[in-house]
Amino acid sequence: MTQSERNPVPLSIPGVKNGPLGGVVLYFDRLESTNSWLKHHPDYLEQEGLVIFSACQTKGRGRQGRVWQGGDPGNLFTSIVIHPKTEARLIPSFSLLIGLAVREALLECGLKGLSLKWPNDVLVKDRKICGILCESRFEREKTPVIIAGIGLNLVGSTQSFTPEISGKVTTLQQEINEVVKPKEMLFSILGHLNRIILDFQQGVSRKYFDLWEKNSSSIGRRILFHEIGEKINGKILGLNEYGHLRVMTGEGKLMEIHGGEIEFL
Ligand code: BTN
Repeated sequence: MTQSERNPVPLSIPGVKNGPLGGVVLYFDRLESTNSWLKHHPDYLEQEGLVIFSACQTKGRGRQGRVWQGGDPGNLFTSIVIHPKTEARLIPSFSLLIGLAVREALLECGLKGLSLKWPNDVLVKDRKICGILCESRFEREKTPVIIAGIGLNLVGSTQSFTPEISGKVTTLQQEINEVVKPKEMLFSILGHLNRIILDFQQGVSRKYFDLWEKNSSSIGRRILFHEIGEKINGKILGLNEYGHLRVMTGEGKLMEIHGGEIEFL
């Protein structure tokens, strides 16, 4: 455990005082992973809206057990403790909401060519700039919790990534030729997310699903998705009333999925 891990600095979030995000960020100089830190400190999961921020990350985790590359200072690594106050079927769609909040913050930087890929990648002209890892705790007699981890590539060029992914990713600096500080970006995302979650928990859901559909690169695309070890091909139709993905399979069967991975064909 480093000194910074023992003594994180609490910061207040400008503009976020009331709402589902609690207004406090625990700031670390260095962590293995902001999501893992919260998993190893379950008491903090009781603090609705708590935000963990690390200036760099040494063992960032991605979806499906992948590694999240680009742990250097200057990029954004954060995890937010969300207590979803909606019916259970709507809970997976929190990851869509986080993608929308990141998109709003990036639009404010003047970034063009943004799109969302189901469930929660943020792309710039089909290259990934942001990944979101939502991990949930659902236990009897405990408040349901989502640990929403956001990794956003802010600085450097794609050459700093391994050759396997360097053609598939991008950074904000590479796109707009400007450096935006991680804390500034964090505060902007949190401001948007606070408002969106507040609305969503008060029953405004279709508006956000429509916005997601409108800004998604996924609608109408042919995909392969992984279903219990099987790969099924289909075409994305849109989101249903719970934010689950509606897919028409090659055999003409309508499926509604809320997890897993899709691959564009
Ligand atoms: C993905 O595979 O696209 C999700 C990547 C999520 C990365 C972020 S970085 C901050 C938080 N901590 C982690 O270990 N992962 C998430």
